[in-house]
This record gives sequence, C-alpha cells and structure tokens, in this order.
Amino acid sequence: MAKIYHIQLDRKMIRNAKVAILPGDPGRVIKIGKNLSPKSRELAFNREYRSYLVPVGKKENILVVSTGIGGPSTAICIEELAVLGVTTFVRIGTTGSIQKSLKVGDVVITSGSVRLDGTSTHYAPLSYPAIPDFFVTRILVEAAEKAGISFKVGITASSDTFYPGQERYDSFTGYVIRDFQGSMKEWQKLNVLNYEMESSALFTTVSALGLRAGCIAGVIVSRASTEKIKKIDVKRAEDNTIEVIRKSIPKLISL
Ligand code: URA
Repeated sequence: MAKIYHIQLDRKMIRNAKVAILPGDPGRVIKIGKNLSPKSRELAFNREYRSYLVPVGKKENILVVSTGIGGPSTAICIEELAVLGVTTFVRIGTTGSIQKSLKVGDVVITSGSVRLDGTSTHYAPLSYPAIPDFFVTRILVEAAEKAGISFKVGITASSDTFYPGQERYDSFTGYVIRDFQGSMKEWQKLNVLNYEMESSALFTTVSALGLRAGCIAGVIVSRASTEKIKKIDVKRAEDNTIEVIRKSIPKLISL
C-alpha cells in the first residue's frame, strides 16, 4: 500500500496502532511521544502532520500525530488515520478558559462542543451534536482524578478562528463582526467553559465515521481576567495534559 497523501504513513509503518493522540502543534509531538515512551520514534513529518510511533503495554503501539490548527487539517488527519485502521482519536490541546472557576494549568475535558466551525458541516448538518465518545471521556476523567490534576468536564466553544470567533480585540484591526460581538459573554452565561479550535470538527467527523473520540485541553489563558499568554503557563498546561494522557493509555488501548 502506498503512503497516504497528507500524513505520509502506510499500514505497515503504524504497526497496528488503533489509538491516536492528536496535538495540534507538530513541535509538541516529540515531547508527548518521549514522555509516553523513551522508545518512541518519528515516522513522518509532512506539512503540519508529524507522527510518532509509541510502544506501550506489552506489545502494542499507539500514534501521536499533529493535526495542525483548526478543523480542515484535523479532518484530513482523522480521515487518513481511519483508512489505516485507527479507531480511537484523543485530542490533547491548549485552550482559553472563559469561566472564572478555571485557572491556567487546569484541564478541560470536553463533553460537547459548540460548532463554531465550518468543517463539521461537511460531515453532518448543524442539528447533529458534536460530542465525544462516553467511554473515552470516562477514561480521561478517571485519569485526571488519578493524576490529581485540577479539571472540569463541560461544554467547549470550538471556533474556526482564534481572533474574531473567540471575540478577541487584540488583533490587527481590533474589529470583531457583529455576529461575534458579545458572544463571549453569552457563552459564559450559557456555562461554556472554554474556547479552542478543533474539537467540533473532531467529534463530528469521528462520530459520522462511526469511530471514537475524546478531547482534553490545558488552560493557557484565563480570558475572564487577561488576554496575555505566558510561556510558563503553556508549559504547565502541556505538562498536565500529558500526564492525563499518560495515565489514560492502558485503558484507551483496551477499549
Ligand atoms: N487555543 C485557542 O483556540 N484559544 C485560546 O484562547 C488558547 C488556545
């Protein structure tokens, strides 16, 4: 079998891996892979898609593959991994929290996403829910409890854009179109926990394909008090989410 176009992987290379851990950032793939196993190794790196094969358990392997930012590249990644036999997709991302109760470093485990993206509408109409797999989510919750990491389970607003769709005014023009003016306040009132950019495409695509997905994200900025993102907070969020993933692997591979 030839390598699949975007991710540049074939069945032989992925050694029967059924679980893929999906960060957005290709740079984070190495950190996650090495943390999960010192024996992990790079398989391919094409465009935004960097992949690591990670030996886990007795004889199993999982993948860590970056999706790039946003729905379109995430959906490509999922489609191509699914063709190769991957059945469980767990996003590990970063996020901006919008509720005061969530601090930087906390972890959000998404129970459903507001579909502020376009990609998911190519897979299912807007009336279709963007929700993760219950069993994957339960594993992530138990892993966070076991790790002793502060977390919340709830609704995520998943936006195609980092600036207007997440109502950020610290942009080039500082302009946010009317549709999104006041939207952060509304999501706060509706008990949405956070903003990120991939979960709605992930959940909708994976559900439409009849496969399983989950999503955790570490809070790198608490939008209820500031717009400033600090490197030290990004590291904390990364470390905490990696720890949750590490603890969830034994159960994820036996799903
Ligand atoms: N990722 C997002 O999409 N939004 C944030 O505020 C932080 C990370």
